[in-house]
Amino acid sequence: KILILDFGSQYTQLIARRVREIGVYCEIYSCECSDEEVKNFAANGIILSGGPETVTSADTPRAPQSVFELGVPVLGICYGMQTMAEQLGGKVESSNHREFGYAQIRARGHSKLLSGIEDHLSPEGFGLLDVWMSHGDRVVDLPGGFKLIASSDGAPIAGIADEERGFYALQFHPEVTHTKQGMRILSRFVLEICGCEALWTASSIIDDSIHAVRAKVGSDHVILGLSGGVDSSVVAALLHKAIADQLTCVFVDTGLLRLHEGDQVMATFAEHMGVKVIRVNAEQRYLAALNGVADPEQKRKIIGNLFVEIFDDEAGKITDAKWLAQGTIYPDVIESAGSKSGKAHLIKSHHNVGGLPEDMKLKLVEPLRELFKDEVRKIGLELGLPSDMVFRHPFPGPGLGVRILGEVKKTYADLLRQADAIFIEELYNHDLYSKVSQAFAVFLPVKSVGVMGDGRRYDYVIALRAVETIDFMTARWAHLPYDFLDLVSRRIINEVAGISRVTYDISGKPPATIEWE
Ligand code: XMP
Repeated sequence: KILILDFGSQYTQLIARRVREIGVYCEIYSCECSDEEVKNFAANGIILSGGPETVTSADTPRAPQSVFELGVPVLGICYGMQTMAEQLGGKVESSNHREFGYAQIRARGHSKLLSGIEDHLSPEGFGLLDVWMSHGDRVVDLPGGFKLIASSDGAPIAGIADEERGFYALQFHPEVTHTKQGMRILSRFVLEICGCEALWTASSIIDDSIHAVRAKVGSDHVILGLSGGVDSSVVAALLHKAIADQLTCVFVDTGLLRLHEGDQVMATFAEHMGVKVIRVNAEQRYLAALNGVADPEQKRKIIGNLFVEIFDDEAGKITDAKWLAQGTIYPDVIESAGSKSGKAHLIKSHHNVGGLPEDMKLKLVEPLRELFKDEVRKIGLELGLPSDMVFRHPFPGPGLGVRILGEVKKTYADLLRQADAIFIEELYNHDLYSKVSQAFAVFLPVKSVGVMGDGRRYDYVIALRAVETIDFMTARWAHLPYDFLDLVSRRIINEVAGISRVTYDISGKPPATIEWE
């Protein structure tokens, strides 16, 4: 397994995902972890990430010294290269020449890391690589024992190695897809130089998780809040396989779900897979609690609190349960560790089905805690979940409650569900669903005038939203074809009585958030 030390780069999670894609387990630790922690992890190799700081200043982060004393290979990337060079006796300078974006590097001499990996050959027969650079500082003197293995115009020392000790460092970012041969370089390091075996596959993840869950819960009963979203669905399938009848799922149908969603969840889990699922039909309670409430934050709070209350009630009835399962995934773990500084502003109070009260007196079991989203999807498929469920766009905890602007009413929710289903159906029909990261309809409770045949219509407005994003922190609106939008608009206006106008949201995030409330 590989240990990744995080120096604060926006790409650290990406490095971890790449290593996992190669088939090798890895974890991310803060660069401030102790020598003890590094040793205890017992890595076969260590990767030092990039980071925003400069090693030319004395009070910026360094790798724990033990990294270089464990006798395992180390790969430094960008800041990781600079700190490796500096800590081992080389020299780093701030340079006026900032390099950002594509660059071409030339492989120099022979190295286990780069030899034979190239995009082009120079006329003299050197390997040339198209890579992604993002740095201000650069290494100017090699540490003792190191040799040059790559250079670029902006960074004459773009790659270095001390092959005897297994230390390698690159100024560019092999983890981003712009570096075309990046995966081959990382595979070389992880598989050949560190000698890891590619054993981290969907079926091995499932086997390991099943053993771990069985060892943890024994013959106890486990409760899971099932939402129909990817993470809780995969937990349900996994736990069902691990402990079968010891699992009870509670599915709260808030009445704020998408068209037929409640029935689909029951069909997949209860009928098809034989999972024990208690469906709570809570539409009336939600509508009553939301009656007359228009403020988005207040709506979110009401929906979140009511969920906890209902879930708590149901869970209380399962008296022999000792465990609560949650669909926490690795990015949640990293993010909550990283957000302790509390610097982020509250934009929206997000609520997850996982956001349950702390006084439930149940112990937690979180079988996806070490997995990235793409791994969760892979094991979901392997466990036999339908692919449209596994690849479904994210859906917010408060559901249609934040897609009906202002006061929530059943009539609004019904109109919205129909319009949304048409939009999604056409995205599938045109092979566009998987090309956008998230798409949905929003209900605007304003009436506008239209004409249909000889009649006048005075009906509500639907806004369509589709975005492309990697991390949902920033997003661009999807440039869907006009003909496609035209078709969806005509279908909604013709088929959904009560809607007379359709608009397309062309706001990016920031400043607009993805959801409208
Ligand atoms: P925003 O609207 O903040 O959304 O740009 C970013 C992503 O988060 C989803 N979202 C939520 N997910 N509970 C959730 O589980 C929530 O309260 C919530 N609010 C927004 C949103 O759908 C998008 O994918």
